[in-house]
Amino acid sequence: MAAIRLTPEDAELLQQARAAPSAVDLVSDDDRSVAADSWSIKSEYGSTLDDDQRNADAAEALSAGNLRAASDYSSDKDEMEPDAEAVTSMLGLQSYWDSQYADELTNFREHGHVGEVWFGPEVMETVASWAKSLCCDVSQGRFPNQADNVKSLNVDQGSKFLSSWSVLDIGTGNGLLLQELAKEGFSNLTGTDYSEGAIDLARSLAERDGFSNINFLVDDVLETKLEGKFQLVVDKGTLDAIGLHPDGPIKRLMYWESVSKLVAPGGLLVITSCNSTKDELVQEVENFNQRRANSSAEPESSNETQRESPTFQYLSHVRTYPTFTFGGSVGSRVATVAFLRN
Ligand SMILES: C[S@@+](CC[C@H](N)C(=O)[O-])C[C@H]1O[C@@H](n2cnc3c(N)ncnc32)[C@H](O)[C@@H]1O
Repeated sequence: MAAIRLTPEDAELLQQARAAPSAVDLVSDDDRSVAADSWSIKSEYGSTLDDDQRNADAAEALSAGNLRAASDYSSDKDEMEPDAEAVTSMLGLQSYWDSQYADELTNFREHGHVGEVWFGPEVMETVASWAKSLCCDVSQGRFPNQADNVKSLNVDQGSKFLSSWSVLDIGTGNGLLLQELAKEGFSNLTGTDYSEGAIDLARSLAERDGFSNINFLVDDVLETKLEGKFQLVVDKGTLDAIGLHPDGPIKRLMYWESVSKLVAPGGLLVITSCNSTKDELVQEVENFNQRRANSSAEPESSNETQRESPTFQYLSHVRTYPTFTFGGSVGSRVATVAFLRN
């Protein structure tokens, strides 16, 4: 992999991650056992918890809870030397997802359960319909005013373009977001996940639900084997999970490098996160653009295009999620942000 050049903001970020108290310092024993209980309840699909409660628990675990020192987990595919200083969670480890999807596959085979719908069905439906409306606008040369939300003047007319949009869902899990996008009119759909169990589950669900035209592949987005480019790339919860790896800050840098190769020029990246706010995602993208600009400004670089425009440009974000106010600031539990690939 090419060396990663850090902007001052990235360097600061890495320093902060290393200086942060470990997860063990942050969470008391009691808190840890409550978090562990909540996870074991959540994983049992026959539990008495209703869907809303399960979704809330899942988002909470992904955003901050269930923090454990990386050293608590002895085996991972990477056999990495975890940095115990960083704030991490088992949700950053492939071993966690492999065992999660093994359980979900069993639950599917025995009870027909679909598994976790991360952030809940409403967010999934919002992401799909909002992405469709954005693609319709872009297909017709209408780019949303960056200060306003997308106004889809003629979504029905735009829908006819959707069949030509190639779509990639990275870290697809059970693949239900792709099924939702298929219902919206997209037909060239691919889902990838580094966990084989996720891909088995996604394929089984798609077949059962009549979406056998969706392609599913095992692929690690940080070391992707995909060679093609996609006009729409969606990520719901995957960057969040990647950021919880013991080497999360570095892996996030790798994520942007990789994703920038997967989105076609003029295409869109739509990220849904409960771990980063819209402003934090926009800042992360600006840092990435800056790194790119720095490397293309080097004498040996011949890439004029990169010099002219930033790689990704903020386009819009979902404004319809419920918000709450805390300490005078307004926020929402989930952010969905779209970037245009130049
Ligand atoms: C929070 S789950 C979200 C799953 C799905 N996107 C959804 O919304 O239901 C995170 C997913 O990212 C996958 N994942 C994490 N790191 C990955 C990587 N480096 N490459 C591919 N998939 C990854 C996990 O296996 C898991 O399926």
